[in-house]
Amino acid sequence: MSKLTAAITAVGSYVPKFVMTNKMLETMVDTNDEWITTRTGIKERRILKEEEGKGTSYLAIKAAQDLIKKGGVNVEEIDVVIVATATPDTLVASTAAFVASKIGATNAFGYDLLAACSSFLFGMSTAASFVQSGRFKKVLLVGADKMSSIVDYTDRTTCIIFGDGAGAALFEPNTEGLGLQDEYLRSDGQGRDFLSMDAGGSMMPATEETVKNRKHFIYQEGRSVFKFAVSNMADAAATIMEKNSLSHEDVTWLVPHQANKRIIDATANRMGLDHNKVMMNIRKYGNTTSATLPLLLADYESQLKKGDNLVFAAFGGGFTWGSIYLKWAYNR
Ligand code: UT7
Repeated sequence: MSKLTAAITAVGSYVPKFVMTNKMLETMVDTNDEWITTRTGIKERRILKEEEGKGTSYLAIKAAQDLIKKGGVNVEEIDVVIVATATPDTLVASTAAFVASKIGATNAFGYDLLAACSSFLFGMSTAASFVQSGRFKKVLLVGADKMSSIVDYTDRTTCIIFGDGAGAALFEPNTEGLGLQDEYLRSDGQGRDFLSMDAGGSMMPATEETVKNRKHFIYQEGRSVFKFAVSNMADAAATIMEKNSLSHEDVTWLVPHQANKRIIDATANRMGLDHNKVMMNIRKYGNTTSATLPLLLADYESQLKKGDNLVFAAFGGGFTWGSIYLKWAYNR
């Protein structure tokens, strides 16, 4: 019997309708379109405003439904729903459990996976392992974040970067050797103070003080995170190429986390890739944290061909980072 691999067989996505442009941010904080564009590559981002009181699950459900519709998936056959997110609806109840129920995946169990901007990348490893082991046949991985719920719109160093969005990928068994080939995943907890949200967890529960001191918003020491991101994301991508004897010609696409265009360019340079092999949509969505990788897959799906070699790379809070080598499994 041929070896079982785990392939992506369908993708879906959703971004909210409201577009927040750099010009709008100019009216909120001391910044300007030119600075944001040259330092990050971002022109606009989407913000969830269309329905009051909706959290990350709203985005995740829409992305999953898009995948189900496009892929013609029988939802009752889904075994596992994983929601990769840094902004779950609530802290105790699993967002994935709610998503699974809402999309009608009545035979699935669901749970959340939290690794900041590397959540989807790490989730790919988990989803693929479930499939490769023969334990489950259909694993739905959703990357979704409502970053606007934790962004401080008085802090010009963070509010210009983030946006809301969601993307989804279905993992299924493959016997042609397609799908996830190899992975290089890392974390270093020493980095957790550089990119964090201090309050609201078990270490610093909510008090009047924490609210007054704006401790429920994301804080980032941008310059330090930038340095770690550039070196670690590029190293991880280069490592996965070396481990698998991939030359720059063998790589069809780099699928990089969309945090800053300069980090993406540095990673592509290190891999020796031309810019036309680099997936990029940071200009219109900004950094959607757990949603960047599946949003890229959905945006570029029509250009992907069976057998294409994709190298995923991400870096995020924690610190967490890594790279995955995957062979694309279908033509749309
Ligand atoms: O996704 C997970 C991981 N996150 C990342 O990978 C993000 C990594 N970090 C970054 O992308 C960048 O560090 C930022 C985009 C956040 C900031 O860019 P930077 O080039 O590192 O800027 P900086 O923090 O070094 O600040 C340079 C200058 C400072 O002014 P002075 O001290 O040189 O006078 C800042 O005060 O730019 C100023 N500045 C701004 N100016 C206009 C900072 N934010 C802004 C702003 N508009 N929004």
